[in-house]
Amino acid sequence: MKKFPRGLPLSTLTASTCLLAALLTTGCGPSAETPPPTKAGAVKIGFLVKQPDEPWFQLEWKFAEKAAQAMPFSLVKIGATDGEKALTAIDNLAAGGAQGLVICTPDTKLGPAIVAKAKAAKLKLISVDDRFVGADGQPMTGVHYLGISARKIGESVGQTLASEMKRRGWTAADTALCAITFDELATAKERTDGASTVLTAAGLPKERIFRAPMRTADIPGAFDAANNLLTQQPNVKHWLVCGSNDNAVLGAVRALEGRGVAVENAVAIGINGTDCIVELEKTKATSFYGSMLLSAKEHGYKTSEMLYRWIKDGVEPPLETRTIGTLITRENFRQVLKEQGVRD
Ligand code: GLA
Repeated sequence: MKKFPRGLPLSTLTASTCLLAALLTTGCGPSAETPPPTKAGAVKIGFLVKQPDEPWFQLEWKFAEKAAQAMPFSLVKIGATDGEKALTAIDNLAAGGAQGLVICTPDTKLGPAIVAKAKAAKLKLISVDDRFVGADGQPMTGVHYLGISARKIGESVGQTLASEMKRRGWTAADTALCAITFDELATAKERTDGASTVLTAAGLPKERIFRAPMRTADIPGAFDAANNLLTQQPNVKHWLVCGSNDNAVLGAVRALEGRGVAVENAVAIGINGTDCIVELEKTKATSFYGSMLLSAKEHGYKTSEMLYRWIKDGVEPPLETRTIGTLITRENFRQVLKEQGVRD
């Protein structure tokens, strides 16, 4: 909260995300169990997420709950913001009689430890969003995974930024990219790398691509990263902004505003499409132009359904499933969010 602009206190965000959480789930607490609506479904599944206060993860839970009601099975929602909490949660799930777990781990390097614990407790496992990384630093391709086509989606962000730059008549000499990066996480790195590569190919010189690494993967982390960059580059006239997700880009947009960069001199595009709805609803447009909407339904409902079928009928899911993104802007977001079941 310390260096965050007064115009948008983090407490407001936290309060609103908690409110959203309260509406979508049973609360902001670390774990909540939804029993099946019909009599004793024998199947019990855990759904663990790394950032339970992010709307993206609340929506995954919302769709997992829909699957729990439809199959039916009982669902245990767990928010685990660090490795210790995640590993303890797996022990608790096993002790509580669960047979499987969908997990977006708070730390991908925990992969081998999570796999070992799940194996020992005979829990079937699907990782979602953030792929496990093995001791050799490579993705653990033997663990079932559903995630986004991160590079492709990043490239779409880059293409949209390039066409906005062209449409606005900005030149490469007075334009630069602010890429809010989080290279520790492979899916985040692929997104910003994809956007940067496309912009270079579209004619933005390499030296006009500025990387601003986040220390924490949240709005304040992105705000600080962007602010540092803007201090170092006071002469850039037009800014293009990309990042690993909506919050990364929102932090940069707040930093641009804090520095007095006019709305029409920056264009920013997020990823998730779920964490920027309030931003797009603002009556006065900000430089947050749009976002690549991901499918929280595929990530929440489909993973849970695949796990349920695996447990109940022995149908093993594919080792790897990739999902796509769709651009939403102020013009079409209400319609698209409705179509995708994100909003009523
Ligand atoms: C990562 C990000 C989330 C979301 C998911 C999508 O986990 O931190 O905000 O983008 O990927 O898979």
